[in-house]
Amino acid sequence: MFTACELGVFDLLLESGKPLSSDAIAACLGASTMGMERLLDACVGLKLLAAEMTLEGGKEALYRNTEISNIYLTKSSPKSQYHIMMYYSNTVYLCWQYLADAVREGRNQYERAFGISPKDPFGAMYRSDEEMLKFMAGQNSVWSICGRDVLAAFDLSPFTQIYDLGGGGGALARECVSLYPNSTVTIYDLPKVVQVAKEQFVSPEERQIAFHEGDFFNDSIPEAELYILSKILHDWDDDKCKQLLAKVYKACKPGGGVLLVESLLNEDKSGPVETQLYSMNMLVQTEGKERTAAEYSKLLEAAGFGVIRVRRTGKLYDAVLGRK
Ligand SMILES: C[S@@+](CC[C@H](N)C(=O)[O-])C[C@H]1O[C@@H](n2cnc3c(N)ncnc32)[C@H](O)[C@@H]1O
Repeated sequence: MFTACELGVFDLLLESGKPLSSDAIAACLGASTMGMERLLDACVGLKLLAAEMTLEGGKEALYRNTEISNIYLTKSSPKSQYHIMMYYSNTVYLCWQYLADAVREGRNQYERAFGISPKDPFGAMYRSDEEMLKFMAGQNSVWSICGRDVLAAFDLSPFTQIYDLGGGGGALARECVSLYPNSTVTIYDLPKVVQVAKEQFVSPEERQIAFHEGDFFNDSIPEAELYILSKILHDWDDDKCKQLLAKVYKACKPGGGVLLVESLLNEDKSGPVETQLYSMNMLVQTEGKERTAAEYSKLLEAAGFGVIRVRRTGKLYDAVLGRK
């Protein structure tokens, strides 16, 4: 799937508007016919492509996209997951080669995979600006599928002044202001990330979206009514989470709240399998892990938040709301 995305197989088949032979696909994409045919057949097995045999010109298979690849794997689709596929392919997949080491040592494998110290994978740790861009675009892509669900899980309309801590490329902020037109969302992220978000992802016309450059562990967090922490706590161990949540609690207006957006494990950790695998990914890549609703509730309570409510959306990401 990663390789077919990277080579542009799904884009070509979408643009061509008709099924193509493996020879034609290989020629268009500058690939070997032997390699391409095998890749295409494997994609048929994965149900990412469908093949029809034609009798014209000998017995030749003609390949076309399935609906799922048209929607999720072509670059131009509004629900495209292409960017996150590229990040998985070029970064995450490399870390997974050291899964056994990660399990043995109980720490991420950035150092082994990339020769970078495992200090802060999401801060100073991108191997290049290009990788940071890929990561930001990748993080954004999931919100075209489940952004609405996590933001509509609770009625957030009473909160108009919102900070999205570690808001990255801003796709969730955009969903938020579209769902809650009276709100202003400030994306708080590391300076370099904010600069790229401004230049590449959020247009100046999107007036309900503002920016704040800062390090949420070391710099101050401004006062607001609601803080969104989407896929933030899963990057960090319990101590760091408590430290961050305590700062958020202090900054939060009385009556305000914090919305955690995370993929929740079942209480007995028996699933969902996607979340279990995400947690393995957190092991190879970060200092964090995926948690159960009770674990997040405990972290929120330790910071002072109360009236904690949990909503499972039935999609990949869920929502937990705590109030001050
Ligand atoms: C896993 S991404 C989540 C992005 C976004 N919230 C989303 O759900 O798509 C983690 C984000 O936290 C940001 N981050 C990491 N360390 C940070 C820090 N110390 N201060 C501010 N932001 C930080 C990263 O730059 C990145 O944008």
